[in-house]
Amino acid sequence: MGKAKYDFSSFSELDFYKKVNTRLIELAEVDKLAKIIELGCGTGGVTELILDRVNSAKNTVIYAIDSSATAISTSLSRLESRKEAILKFIQTEAQNLQNTVKDQVDSVIYCNSIHYINNKMDMVNQIKKSLKKGGTFAFNTSFYSGSHPPETEIFLRKWMLKTIRLLKKRYGIMPVKVKKVESRVQLTPDNYTELILSNGFYIKEKEVIEVNVPLDGWYHICSFRDWIEGVLPGVPLSKGKEILQETVKELFDEMNIKTLQRNWLSVVAVKK
Ligand SMILES: C[S@@+](CC[C@H](N)C(=O)[O-])C[C@H]1O[C@@H](n2cnc3c(N)ncnc32)[C@H](O)[C@@H]1O
Repeated sequence: MGKAKYDFSSFSELDFYKKVNTRLIELAEVDKLAKIIELGCGTGGVTELILDRVNSAKNTVIYAIDSSATAISTSLSRLESRKEAILKFIQTEAQNLQNTVKDQVDSVIYCNSIHYINNKMDMVNQIKKSLKKGGTFAFNTSFYSGSHPPETEIFLRKWMLKTIRLLKKRYGIMPVKVKKVESRVQLTPDNYTELILSNGFYIKEKEVIEVNVPLDGWYHICSFRDWIEGVLPGVPLSKGKEILQETVKELFDEMNIKTLQRNWLSVVAVKK
């Protein structure tokens, strides 16, 4: 049996997730762009959506950056046959952007990953330096203050209670208590606006998309390492995944629901 990867690929294949990112890419008008940096490219789901839209193999370069070696290697094998652009995959922290890509580009795309960064001021400043004047910075995130609608909190609380009870009963283990790391301290949409404006951008589009996430979405996110480690710190990944998937299914049944809402903040900004 192959080694479990606990990566983002099964989640990134889901229709609703592709729609959210497609919307951002369309707002950023990537089909008109020649040089693109994609930060936090993961297993290549968004890179693929970008490739579907670019129209000149000769002139388009995509620098796709992720800190995870396994995610980069999945992206490489997944996209090796794509010829619509020159693809340059780079395994490094997004925070090393200025030392990594010397080119100035037309667009920086950053899907569902900016919330990992502690020093967002420095990150956005680096992104600005990487862009040509008039270049576009487009990002989205579902980890910001306001991404959980208040009416879903009861579900999330019940889910965690069920999970912790079952973990204890089946395996005799509990998550460990950890101090909140800076990246888990979530910004509000207004904080993001301030961050962008104070770095010399103007905002072209900013929207909150209300997404009715089906059971599939919640089920597949439970196979992603960062999610398991975030909600069940210290719990072995295989056990965390098993219990979280079991309890989320049970709870959807018990509460007789088909979807649970989550909001995505989506911003397209232009360098002045
Ligand atoms: C939720 S996934 C999103 C992947 C991809 N953007 C997508 O939407 O399919 C977040 C990705 O960010 C990467 N990541 C987290 N912190 C990072 C950092 N500091 N620098 C670069 N990548 C990072 C993770 O390895 C993971 O692949």
